[in-house]
Amino acid sequence: MKDKFGRSIEYMRISITDRCNLRCRYCMPHGIEKVEHARIISYEDIVRICEAAAGLGITKFKITGGEPLVRIGCSDLVKSIKSIPGTEQVTLTTNGVELAGHMASLVDAGLDAVNISLDTLDAEKYGYITQRGSIDKVMAGIDSALLSGIKTKINCVPQRGFNDDEIKDFAHFAFDRGIDVRFIELMPIGSAIDGKGVSNIEIIDALRSDFPELTPDDSIHGNGPAVYYGIPGLKGSIGLISAMHGVFCESCNRIRLTSQGYIKPCLCYEESIDIKPALAGDITDIRKILEEAITSKPGQHCFNEDPGQTDRRSMSQIGG
Ligand code: 5AD
Ligand code: SF4
Repeated sequence: MKDKFGRSIEYMRISITDRCNLRCRYCMPHGIEKVEHARIISYEDIVRICEAAAGLGITKFKITGGEPLVRIGCSDLVKSIKSIPGTEQVTLTTNGVELAGHMASLVDAGLDAVNISLDTLDAEKYGYITQRGSIDKVMAGIDSALLSGIKTKINCVPQRGFNDDEIKDFAHFAFDRGIDVRFIELMPIGSAIDGKGVSNIEIIDALRSDFPELTPDDSIHGNGPAVYYGIPGLKGSIGLISAMHGVFCESCNRIRLTSQGYIKPCLCYEESIDIKPALAGDITDIRKILEEAITSKPGQHCFNEDPGQTDRRSMSQIGG
Protein backbone atom coordinates (compact mmCIF):
# COMPACT_ATOMS: atom_id res chain seq x y z
CA MET A 1 0.00 0.00 0.00
CA LYS A 2 1.14 3.54 -0.73
CA ASP A 3 1.16 6.26 1.90
CA LYS A 4 0.02 9.82 1.22
CA PHE A 5 3.49 10.77 -0.04
CA GLY A 6 3.42 7.99 -2.62
CA ARG A 7 5.88 5.79 -0.75
CA SER A 8 5.26 2.10 -1.09
CA ILE A 9 5.07 0.48 2.35
CA GLU A 10 6.18 -3.12 2.12
CA TYR A 11 8.24 -3.74 5.24
CA MET A 12 7.33 -4.17 8.90
CA ARG A 13 9.71 -4.29 11.84
CA ILE A 14 8.31 -6.36 14.67
CA SER A 15 9.67 -5.94 18.18
CA ILE A 16 8.92 -9.13 20.09
CA THR A 17 10.34 -7.95 23.42
CA ASP A 18 11.80 -4.80 24.93
CA ARG A 19 14.03 -6.86 27.22
CA CYS A 20 17.66 -7.38 26.46
CA ASN A 21 20.55 -9.39 27.87
CA LEU A 22 22.90 -6.40 27.36
CA ARG A 23 22.90 -2.86 28.77
CA CYS A 24 24.42 -0.76 26.00
CA ARG A 25 25.24 2.64 27.38
CA TYR A 26 23.45 4.56 24.62
CA CYS A 27 20.37 2.37 24.66
CA MET A 28 19.31 1.06 28.07
CA PRO A 29 22.20 1.57 30.48
CA HIS A 30 20.04 0.81 33.53
CA GLY A 31 17.72 -1.72 31.95
CA ILE A 32 14.08 -0.94 31.32
CA GLU A 33 10.98 -0.88 33.39
CA LYS A 34 9.84 -4.46 33.12
CA VAL A 35 6.49 -4.96 31.51
CA GLU A 36 4.53 -8.01 32.63
CA HIS A 37 4.47 -10.80 30.11
CA ALA A 38 0.69 -10.47 29.82
CA ARG A 39 1.09 -7.03 28.24
CA ILE A 40 3.50 -8.27 25.61
CA ILE A 41 1.83 -9.14 22.35
CA SER A 42 1.46 -12.89 21.77
CA TYR A 43 2.99 -14.71 18.83
CA GLU A 44 -0.51 -15.68 17.67
CA ASP A 45 -1.49 -12.01 17.50
CA ILE A 46 1.75 -11.05 15.74
CA VAL A 47 1.02 -13.68 13.09
CA ARG A 48 -2.52 -12.33 12.61
CA ILE A 49 -1.13 -8.81 12.20
CA CYS A 50 1.36 -10.11 9.64
CA GLU A 51 -1.44 -11.83 7.75
CA ALA A 52 -3.37 -8.57 7.62
CA ALA A 53 -0.19 -6.73 6.61
CA ALA A 54 0.45 -9.22 3.82
CA GLY A 55 -2.97 -8.33 2.44
CA LEU A 56 -1.78 -4.72 2.14
CA GLY A 57 1.39 -5.65 0.29
CA ILE A 58 3.72 -5.79 3.28
CA THR A 59 5.84 -8.76 2.33
CA LYS A 60 9.03 -8.32 4.32
CA PHE A 61 9.27 -8.69 8.06
CA LYS A 62 12.10 -8.01 10.47
CA ILE A 63 12.06 -9.57 13.94
CA THR A 64 13.75 -7.32 16.43
CA GLY A 65 13.72 -6.28 20.10
CA GLY A 66 15.21 -5.41 22.61
CA GLU A 67 16.99 -8.65 21.98
CA PRO A 68 14.61 -11.00 20.18
CA LEU A 69 16.48 -14.17 21.12
CA VAL A 70 15.72 -13.68 24.82
CA ARG A 71 12.08 -14.46 24.06
CA ILE A 72 11.35 -18.19 23.90
CA GLY A 73 10.09 -19.49 20.58
CA CYS A 74 11.57 -16.87 18.27
CA SER A 75 12.32 -19.51 15.60
CA ASP A 76 8.74 -20.76 15.73
CA LEU A 77 7.55 -17.24 15.03
CA VAL A 78 9.91 -16.98 12.06
CA LYS A 79 8.45 -20.22 10.73
CA SER A 80 4.85 -19.07 11.19
CA ILE A 81 5.44 -15.74 9.43
CA LYS A 82 7.33 -17.46 6.62
CA SER A 83 4.32 -19.67 5.98
CA ILE A 84 1.94 -16.72 5.43
CA PRO A 85 1.07 -16.53 1.72
CA GLY A 86 2.73 -13.46 0.28
CA THR A 87 5.64 -13.33 2.73
CA GLU A 88 8.84 -12.79 0.80
CA GLN A 89 11.33 -12.41 3.58
CA VAL A 90 11.75 -12.79 7.32
CA THR A 91 14.94 -11.44 8.84
CA LEU A 92 16.30 -10.92 12.35
CA THR A 93 18.26 -8.21 14.15
CA THR A 94 20.18 -9.47 17.18
CA ASN A 95 23.10 -8.52 19.39
CA GLY A 96 24.50 -11.94 18.51
CA VAL A 97 25.32 -13.03 22.04
CA GLU A 98 22.99 -16.04 21.96
CA LEU A 99 22.89 -16.45 18.20
CA ALA A 100 25.20 -19.46 17.82
CA GLY A 101 22.87 -21.68 19.85
CA HIS A 102 19.80 -20.61 17.84
CA MET A 103 21.29 -20.55 14.36
CA ALA A 104 20.30 -24.07 13.30
CA SER A 105 16.65 -23.69 14.33
CA LEU A 106 16.43 -20.23 12.74
CA VAL A 107 17.76 -21.55 9.46
CA ASP A 108 15.37 -24.52 9.67
CA ALA A 109 12.54 -22.05 10.22
CA GLY A 110 13.46 -20.33 6.96
CA LEU A 111 15.15 -17.18 8.22
CA ASP A 112 16.42 -15.18 5.23
CA ALA A 113 19.04 -12.92 6.79
CA VAL A 114 20.48 -11.74 10.07
CA ASN A 115 21.86 -8.38 11.25
CA ILE A 116 24.25 -8.55 14.17
CA SER A 117 25.04 -5.47 16.28
CA LEU A 118 28.69 -4.97 17.11
CA ASP A 119 30.07 -1.55 18.03
CA THR A 120 33.68 -2.49 18.71
CA LEU A 121 36.14 -5.22 17.81
CA ASP A 122 37.97 -4.86 21.12
CA ALA A 123 36.94 -7.27 23.89
CA GLU A 124 37.47 -4.81 26.68
CA LYS A 125 35.61 -2.00 24.94
CA TYR A 126 32.81 -4.41 24.15
CA GLY A 127 32.51 -5.19 27.86
CA TYR A 128 32.46 -1.46 28.57
CA ILE A 129 29.80 -0.40 26.06
CA THR A 130 27.45 -3.35 26.66
CA GLN A 131 28.19 -3.46 30.41
CA ARG A 132 27.88 -7.24 30.44
CA GLY A 133 28.48 -8.80 27.04
CA SER A 134 31.22 -11.15 25.89
CA ILE A 135 32.63 -10.41 22.46
CA ASP A 136 33.67 -14.06 22.06
CA LYS A 137 30.03 -15.09 22.10
CA VAL A 138 29.15 -12.50 19.43
CA MET A 139 32.05 -13.65 17.27
CA ALA A 140 30.78 -17.23 17.66
CA GLY A 141 27.38 -15.94 16.57
CA ILE A 142 28.88 -14.23 13.51
CA ASP A 143 30.81 -17.40 12.62
CA SER A 144 27.70 -19.55 12.93
CA ALA A 145 25.75 -17.15 10.70
CA LEU A 146 28.47 -17.10 8.06
CA LEU A 147 28.81 -20.88 8.21
CA SER A 148 25.07 -21.34 7.73
CA GLY A 149 25.32 -19.42 4.47
CA ILE A 150 22.58 -17.04 5.54
CA LYS A 151 22.95 -13.37 4.52
CA THR A 152 24.75 -11.67 7.39
CA LYS A 153 25.40 -8.03 8.16
CA ILE A 154 27.09 -6.26 11.03
CA ASN A 155 25.56 -3.05 12.44
CA CYS A 156 27.96 -0.62 14.10
CA VAL A 157 27.02 2.69 15.71
CA PRO A 158 30.10 4.97 15.65
CA GLN A 159 30.42 7.20 18.70
CA ARG A 160 32.86 10.00 19.22
CA GLY A 161 35.64 9.09 21.62
CA PHE A 162 34.56 5.47 21.88
CA ASN A 163 34.94 3.64 18.58
CA ASP A 164 35.63 6.39 16.03
CA ASP A 165 39.20 5.08 15.89
CA GLU A 166 37.99 1.64 14.76
CA ILE A 167 36.34 2.58 11.47
CA LYS A 168 39.20 1.19 9.40
CA ASP A 169 39.40 -1.95 11.54
CA PHE A 170 35.74 -2.59 10.80
CA ALA A 171 36.37 -2.10 7.09
CA HIS A 172 39.22 -4.62 7.21
CA PHE A 173 36.91 -6.98 9.10
CA ALA A 174 34.31 -6.57 6.33
CA PHE A 175 36.68 -7.30 3.47
CA ASP A 176 38.67 -10.03 5.27
CA ARG A 177 35.51 -11.92 6.11
CA GLY A 178 33.46 -11.01 3.06
CA ILE A 179 30.71 -9.56 5.21
CA ASP A 180 28.69 -6.32 5.06
CA VAL A 181 29.42 -3.82 7.83
CA ARG A 182 26.96 -0.96 8.17
CA PHE A 183 27.66 2.19 10.08
CA ILE A 184 24.53 3.70 11.59
CA GLU A 185 24.55 7.32 12.66
CA LEU A 186 23.63 7.63 16.31
CA MET A 187 20.08 8.91 16.66
CA PRO A 188 19.04 11.09 19.62
CA ILE A 189 16.74 8.48 21.08
CA GLY A 190 16.44 7.47 24.75
CA SER A 191 19.82 7.45 26.50
CA ALA A 192 21.52 8.59 23.30
CA ILE A 193 19.76 11.96 23.48
CA ASP A 194 23.05 13.71 24.28
CA GLY A 195 25.30 11.16 22.60
CA LYS A 196 27.87 12.17 20.03
CA GLY A 197 27.66 10.26 16.80
CA VAL A 198 29.98 10.42 13.84
CA SER A 199 28.67 11.60 10.50
CA ASN A 200 28.93 9.22 7.59
CA ILE A 201 30.76 11.84 5.59
CA GLU A 202 33.54 11.61 8.13
CA ILE A 203 33.51 7.83 7.94
CA ILE A 204 34.02 7.75 4.19
CA ASP A 205 36.83 10.30 4.55
CA ALA A 206 38.49 8.11 7.19
CA LEU A 207 38.31 5.07 4.92
CA ARG A 208 39.67 6.71 1.77
CA SER A 209 43.31 6.49 2.89
CA ASP A 210 43.31 2.71 3.52
CA PHE A 211 40.79 1.93 0.81
CA PRO A 212 41.26 4.30 -2.15
CA GLU A 213 39.45 1.78 -4.39
CA LEU A 214 36.23 2.13 -2.43
CA THR A 215 33.37 2.72 -4.87
CA PRO A 216 29.61 3.01 -4.47
CA ASP A 217 27.97 -0.35 -5.02
CA ASP A 218 24.44 -0.09 -6.31
CA SER A 219 23.51 -3.73 -6.11
CA ILE A 220 20.74 -3.97 -3.56
CA HIS A 221 21.69 -5.49 -0.22
CA GLY A 222 18.57 -5.15 1.87
CA ASN A 223 15.32 -3.37 2.48
CA GLY A 224 16.71 -0.39 4.26
CA PRO A 225 18.14 3.02 3.63
CA ALA A 226 21.82 2.03 3.57
CA VAL A 227 24.11 3.22 0.78
CA TYR A 228 26.84 0.67 0.07
CA TYR A 229 30.48 0.90 -0.94
CA GLY A 230 32.62 -1.98 -2.10
CA ILE A 231 36.01 -2.80 -3.52
CA PRO A 232 36.01 -4.35 -7.00
CA GLY A 233 36.93 -8.02 -6.73
CA LEU A 234 36.39 -8.30 -2.98
CA LYS A 235 33.46 -9.77 -1.12
CA GLY A 236 31.96 -7.70 1.65
CA SER A 237 30.96 -4.07 1.70
CA ILE A 238 30.58 -0.97 3.81
CA GLY A 239 27.08 0.38 4.30
CA LEU A 240 26.22 3.83 5.53
CA ILE A 241 22.93 4.60 7.19
CA SER A 242 22.75 8.36 7.34
CA ALA A 243 20.00 8.52 9.90
CA MET A 244 20.85 12.10 10.76
CA HIS A 245 22.73 13.74 7.94
CA GLY A 246 21.08 12.31 4.88
CA VAL A 247 17.35 12.41 4.74
CA PHE A 248 16.37 8.93 3.68
CA CYS A 249 12.76 9.47 4.61
CA GLU A 250 11.65 9.90 1.02
CA SER A 251 12.35 6.23 0.38
CA CYS A 252 10.97 5.04 3.73
CA ASN A 253 9.11 1.77 3.19
CA ARG A 254 8.23 0.66 6.70
CA ILE A 255 6.01 0.65 9.74
CA ARG A 256 6.79 -0.83 13.16
CA LEU A 257 4.93 -3.05 15.60
CA THR A 258 6.06 -2.58 19.21
CA SER A 259 6.16 -5.42 21.69
CA GLN A 260 3.14 -3.98 23.48
CA GLY A 261 0.99 -3.98 20.39
CA TYR A 262 1.26 -0.47 19.02
CA ILE A 263 1.89 0.40 15.40
CA LYS A 264 4.44 3.16 15.02
CA PRO A 265 4.24 4.96 11.67
CA CYS A 266 7.69 6.57 12.17
CA LEU A 267 10.67 5.77 14.38
CA CYS A 268 11.20 9.39 15.31
CA TYR A 269 7.81 10.44 16.67
CA GLU A 270 6.12 9.20 19.79
CA GLU A 271 2.84 8.76 17.97
CA SER A 272 1.56 5.20 17.79
CA ILE A 273 -1.73 3.42 17.25
CA ASP A 274 -2.95 0.68 19.58
CA ILE A 275 -3.73 -2.37 17.48
CA LYS A 276 -4.86 -4.56 20.39
CA PRO A 277 -8.56 -3.58 20.33
CA ALA A 278 -8.69 -4.60 16.68
CA LEU A 279 -7.37 -8.04 17.58
CA ALA A 280 -10.74 -8.84 19.12
CA GLY A 281 -12.23 -8.46 15.66
CA ASP A 282 -11.40 -10.06 12.35
CA ILE A 283 -8.68 -9.49 9.80
CA THR A 284 -10.53 -6.52 8.27
CA ASP A 285 -10.40 -4.70 11.61
CA ILE A 286 -6.68 -5.33 11.91
CA ARG A 287 -6.09 -4.23 8.33
CA LYS A 288 -7.97 -1.00 9.03
CA ILE A 289 -5.55 -0.05 11.82
CA LEU A 290 -2.57 -0.81 9.59
CA GLU A 291 -4.06 1.35 6.84
CA GLU A 292 -4.57 4.15 9.34
CA ALA A 293 -0.92 3.89 10.45
CA ILE A 294 0.34 3.93 6.88
CA THR A 295 -1.83 6.90 6.01
CA SER A 296 -0.58 8.83 9.02
CA LYS A 297 3.12 8.33 8.23
CA PRO A 298 4.82 11.72 8.45
CA GLY A 299 6.85 12.97 5.51
CA GLN A 300 10.12 12.90 7.38
CA HIS A 301 11.78 12.58 10.77
CA CYS A 302 12.42 15.53 13.05
CA PHE A 303 15.69 14.47 14.66
CA ASN A 304 17.50 17.53 13.41
CA GLU A 305 14.84 20.13 14.02
CA ASP A 306 12.76 19.45 17.04
CA PRO A 307 14.19 17.37 19.87
CA GLY A 308 11.02 18.11 21.88
CA GLN A 309 8.97 15.93 19.57
CA THR A 310 11.19 12.89 19.38
CA ASP A 311 10.41 9.69 21.17
CA ARG A 312 12.03 9.62 24.63
CA ARG A 313 12.03 5.87 24.86
CA SER A 314 15.09 3.78 24.10
CA MET A 315 15.57 1.90 20.88
CA SER A 316 14.88 -1.33 22.77
CA GLN A 317 11.41 -0.07 23.68
CA ILE A 318 10.62 1.40 20.29
CA GLY A 319 11.93 -1.65 18.49
CA GLY A 320 15.41 -1.31 17.02
N1 5AD B 1 20.95 5.40 17.34
C1 5AD B 1 21.31 4.55 16.35
N2 5AD B 1 21.28 3.21 16.49
C2 5AD B 1 20.87 2.71 17.67
N3 5AD B 1 20.74 1.43 18.10
C3 5AD B 1 20.27 1.45 19.37
N4 5AD B 1 20.11 2.72 19.80
C4 5AD B 1 20.47 3.53 18.75
C5 5AD B 1 20.54 4.94 18.54
N5 5AD B 1 20.18 5.80 19.49
C6 5AD B 1 21.08 0.31 17.23
C7 5AD B 1 21.69 -0.88 17.92
C8 5AD B 1 21.40 -1.98 16.93
C9 5AD B 1 20.22 -1.49 16.14
C10 5AD B 1 19.03 -2.37 16.23
O1 5AD B 1 19.91 -0.20 16.64
O2 5AD B 1 23.07 -0.74 18.09
O3 5AD B 1 22.46 -2.17 16.04
FE1 SF4 C 1 20.30 -4.48 23.93
FE2 SF4 C 1 20.55 -3.57 21.44
FE3 SF4 C 1 19.92 -1.89 23.39
FE4 SF4 C 1 22.39 -2.93 23.29
S1 SF4 C 1 21.46 -1.57 21.76
S2 SF4 C 1 21.07 -2.76 25.13
S3 SF4 C 1 21.98 -4.94 22.50
S4 SF4 C 1 18.65 -3.57 22.70
